[in-house]
Amino acid sequence: MFFSLSQKLMFQLDPERAHEMAISMFKHTANTPLQCAYAQQLANKPVSLMGLEFKNPVGLAAGLDKNGECVDAFDAMGFGFVEVGTVTPRPQPGNDKPRIFRLKEQQAIINRMGFNNKGVDYLVEQVTKRQSRGILGINIGKNIDTSVENGKDDYLLCMDKVYQHASYITVNISSPNTPGLRSLQYGDALDDLLGSLKDRQAQLALQYGKTVPLLLKIAPDLDEQEVVQISDSIVRHQLEGVIATNTTLSREGVENSTYGSQAGGLSGRPVAQKSTTVVKILAREINGRLPIIGVGGIDSAEQAQAKFSAGASLIQVYTGFIYQGPKLIKDIVNNI
Ligand SMILES: Cc1cc2nc3c(=O)[nH]c(=O)nc-3n(C[C@H](O)[C@H](O)[C@H](O)COP(=O)(O)O)c2cc1C
Repeated sequence: MFFSLSQKLMFQLDPERAHEMAISMFKHTANTPLQCAYAQQLANKPVSLMGLEFKNPVGLAAGLDKNGECVDAFDAMGFGFVEVGTVTPRPQPGNDKPRIFRLKEQQAIINRMGFNNKGVDYLVEQVTKRQSRGILGINIGKNIDTSVENGKDDYLLCMDKVYQHASYITVNISSPNTPGLRSLQYGDALDDLLGSLKDRQAQLALQYGKTVPLLLKIAPDLDEQEVVQISDSIVRHQLEGVIATNTTLSREGVENSTYGSQAGGLSGRPVAQKSTTVVKILAREINGRLPIIGVGGIDSAEQAQAKFSAGASLIQVYTGFIYQGPKLIKDIVNNI
């Protein structure tokens, strides 16, 4: 009730302004009596994977809480896990505004935020203050002014800083809004990156006495052969998991929308099928050796089920949550 009212108001505002207000509201109301506006008790649907206990398989996807400021609020809403970031070593402003567009009719969003974030030190400070003990994923990236060739150093630096605070770490090489980033998904560049990250993980595991799972997040705009090659790399380097998918560069299904021709990544309903196809190919290739987190266009229990049927063990939501609020988490958790 409260959420649908405030959502109606928020949808009158510019999308980025609405986003900032929501983040501020969640940050300041979590762990206070005011969190009753969005907190909900959900059925326990535990899942054990990667040595972690998820209270249910429905997570918040990266990009909504880029600075890790609202983990307690999202935990109170019933998410089975929360992924924060993408965070970069140094703070950066991201692309010029406007850079986020609602395509309401298609239940979609186009964004070209460009990893706007307050930097890894700020994020670590925020997540250290959280009270919830739920599963926390930290999604890492590279600064825009770090060359793609030196990108590995940014991932390693972020990994060092977030390691002891994360339940798992996601390596994001699939955002379409950082020039050249997606080239890290291919061939030698991918092998080199994964090899270095796994070596560092082994060192950090010795230092901290725990192995924090390392996951790779990939794009929906890969052909079958490319997904097969990525699967091969992921298995060879013994990553602990894979997240499919990020936003798409395709404009299929939004050709006639007012904002359909805006540059950036498209998310929500129009990406659902593409993401599910990538999950299916990954599942066939990986053959149970590591878990797949399915994300892209999940806006109902049926869409969640489509990702599970394709081979995902966990799912995440972003755009569906923007349009429906915490009710979406409840609908999915109660119906799976
Ligand atoms: C405004 C916006 C910002 C995003 N920022 C990030 C990000 O920083 N890192 C990331 O890995 N994914 C980011 N994503 C992608 C989502 O995590 C998710 O993979 C994608 O939107 C598909 O899921 P959905 O259809 O449920 O939104 C962002 C998505 C949106 C809409």
